[in-house]
Amino acid sequence: MSDNAAKSINVPCPVLQEMYATGHAVDLAGKKHPIESAIQPDFSEALYRLIKARRPNRVLEIGMAYGASSLAILAALSELGEGGELISIDPAQSNGWHSIGVHNVARAGFADAHRLIEKPDYLGLPELLQEKVSIDLGYIDGWHTFDHALLDFFYIDKLLPVGGVVGFNDCGWKSVFKAIRFVETHRDYREIDVGLAPQYPGGPVASLAKRFIGRNGSDRYFEKRKEWQSAHNFYAPF
Ligand SMILES: C[S@@+](CC[C@H](N)C(=O)[O-])C[C@H]1O[C@@H](n2cnc3c(N)ncnc32)[C@H](O)[C@@H]1O
Repeated sequence: MSDNAAKSINVPCPVLQEMYATGHAVDLAGKKHPIESAIQPDFSEALYRLIKARRPNRVLEIGMAYGASSLAILAALSELGEGGELISIDPAQSNGWHSIGVHNVARAGFADAHRLIEKPDYLGLPELLQEKVSIDLGYIDGWHTFDHALLDFFYIDKLLPVGGVVGFNDCGWKSVFKAIRFVETHRDYREIDVGLAPQYPGGPVASLAKRFIGRNGSDRYFEKRKEWQSAHNFYAPF
């Protein structure tokens, strides 16, 4: 996101702070790349705070890019010092993002706590399920169409125990909002407050309409309350 340029961030990770402060990321050859895709600084801060508070052993993120969310997560895991790890799934880390995400993770000293699965979600997530990997927190920031957001949630739900948390980025997008409506109507999750103010951007009418239907554009997090498998013919409008 281009409006991330020149912003400060309250996460104790110099590599992440530098990225937000300068508005660019640096590849292995020293070349600078403008940041176009990183989560908002306050969303990184919320991730960091949430991980400090909930002390997950294993975090999974879909969508790494230059590694902003990865660094926020890993900074918190590192401070906790409990051997927690982050798994990132992203098919384009080398080709699309010049390996800057993994380079940043290494520069920050977090490489030992990080595993990259350089595959699309629909290949990487079933692999984790097959491996019987359990996660405590999942963060969805990959390909934001409805089918991918729902697929990401579907698998994360299977990897999460009761009490685990799933977070969504770009929640104001119609596709992601719809996936969240699925979570709210077809599973047993409750939204948790991570200290982010709701966002309803747009003109007065659009903003009011979003407020009315709850299409909050801030990052949103949900805690799994129950392992609930609906009947085979269950459907609720969403
Ligand atoms: C908005 S960026 C992620 C930004 C990152 N979370 C950050 O804070 O810097 C979206 C990412 O999703 C990745 N992506 C695209 N298609 C994907 C797929 N099918 N599965 C997983 N990730 C995907 C892209 O390569 C890109 O890195």
